[in-house]
Amino acid sequence: MPITLKSSREIELMTEAGRILEIVHNELEKALHPGMTTKEIDRLGEEVIRSYGCIPSFLDYNGYPASICVSVNDEVVHGIPSDRRTIKDGDIVSLDAGVIYKGYHSDAARTHAVGEISEEAKKLIQVTRECFFEGIKYAKEGNHLFDISSAIGKYAEDRGYGVVRALCGHGIGTSLHESPEVPNYIMNRKGVKLKAGMTLAIEPMINSGGWEVDWLDDDWTVVTRDHSLSAHYENTVLITENEPKLLTLNA
Ligand code: MF3
Ligand code: CO
Repeated sequence: MPITLKSSREIELMTEAGRILEIVHNELEKALHPGMTTKEIDRLGEEVIRSYGCIPSFLDYNGYPASICVSVNDEVVHGIPSDRRTIKDGDIVSLDAGVIYKGYHSDAARTHAVGEISEEAKKLIQVTRECFFEGIKYAKEGNHLFDISSAIGKYAEDRGYGVVRALCGHGIGTSLHESPEVPNYIMNRKGVKLKAGMTLAIEPMINSGGWEVDWLDDDWTVVTRDHSLSAHYENTVLITENEPKLLTLNA
């Protein structure tokens, strides 16, 4: 599939999709507390998404059974909400969500602390966020896609973290996943040239231990092979001739 360049009307719609998704994340962050089930998080997320006239883009995507991916501690991404799973003080919880607004998608993820967490966990959440900001320093027309990937990978590896390789960021627009794939690791090729109007979901997934991951028997939940902690940070980003626009942060 070719990479799509969005028109100014499409950018308007994606901007609104991003703004709403940021509100969803803010509401979820406010509500998060020890004792809450992961299903309650999903229910609240879906309710907020629909209250803005949007559709949860993950629900039924390839059979995924929820609106919000809730991944706890050694779970990397795509954790399935359950009313038998309660989050507790000291957990880290990655929330990944997407909305469709008038046919256009936005996609963003955050990892939150529940109550008091370890120094190791705090550092991991912080470095994962910093990886994203390191990557988008290169997200500008004229640079190459893998400038972003390599910057993210190097930042994490320099600090001793494991960079998940089995999953990537992606183009986004009228579909949740469009071309190109956006790896989070060091690439020894340049990748495509970035152009104004491209919209990318950039999403480092970083482990406090090794980079290797496994899938649980539910065929969705990705976990670290060594059961070290994992964090995820993602925004939908618009490439321009100047600084990138973060559609799902401070929008
Ligand atoms: N942010 C994830 C991604 O880009 C969310 C997809 S979850 C799914 O792949 F359930 F929709 F698959
Ligand atoms: Co994504």
